[in-house]
Amino acid sequence: MKNRKASENRHFSLIAIADKNWAIGRGGHQLVSISQDRAMFREATMGRIVVMGRRTWDSLDIRPLESRFNVVLSRDPDFTAKGGFTARSVDEALAEIDRLLGENRLEDTDVIVIGGGAIYRAFLPYCAQALITAVDYAYDADTDMPDLDALGWKMTSESDEQTAFDLIYHYRLYERPED
Ligand SMILES: NC(=O)c1ccc[n+]([C@@H]2O[C@H](COP(=O)([O-])OP(=O)(O)OC[C@H]3O[C@@H](n4cnc5c(N)ncnc54)[C@H](OP(=O)(O)O)[C@@H]3O)[C@@H](O)[C@H]2O)c1
Repeated sequence: MKNRKASENRHFSLIAIADKNWAIGRGGHQLVSISQDRAMFREATMGRIVVMGRRTWDSLDIRPLESRFNVVLSRDPDFTAKGGFTARSVDEALAEIDRLLGENRLEDTDVIVIGGGAIYRAFLPYCAQALITAVDYAYDADTDMPDLDALGWKMTSESDEQTAFDLIYHYRLYERPED
């Protein structure tokens, strides 16, 4: 693959489980864990490049995420993501992503941004799609992600209503508006 400028158009995806206010976390953890959603996350990311922040990396029970290329952002010179690639900036992450794409014959669409809030914000300009597990509940939270409705992203598909215990949720696909 040819070298590209960081500004060149990208078609990454992001994946998140968010509440009705686009909240995603509290105290370094996700707000909710739904087994069917975890299975969907696994399937959506398997074999692909996952991009995350150091706080999300720290929150993983097992790291790196197996059978996936883990790219972890941190400005801390003492931090190393063992089993993954540590990027000190978005540009450094993009350079490593390009290297991994070329080496593994993957496409832009195989790059999945998995959070958390800081990294969703930093990589949103490079994302063309967002897979959102939208939970119909408002949690007490300390971390959110960009409100894609407010940013003009279009919800292009939505699953039937899903339930887990007393929770109602939907899988939604959002697409970036045309420039
Ligand atoms: N609901 C979901 O789908 C979902 C998904 C993922 C995470 N979460 C939740 O979200 C919360 C974590 O989100 P967060 O926003 O606090 O943290 P985060 O995005 O996971 O990680 C933030 C860290 O990434 C590094 N970083 C950020 N921007 C960078 C840049 N431009 N260059 C280099 N490094 C950079 C910094 O690490 P250093 O401090 O090491 O410098 C920063 O502290 C947790 O509660 C987690 O459970 C939820």
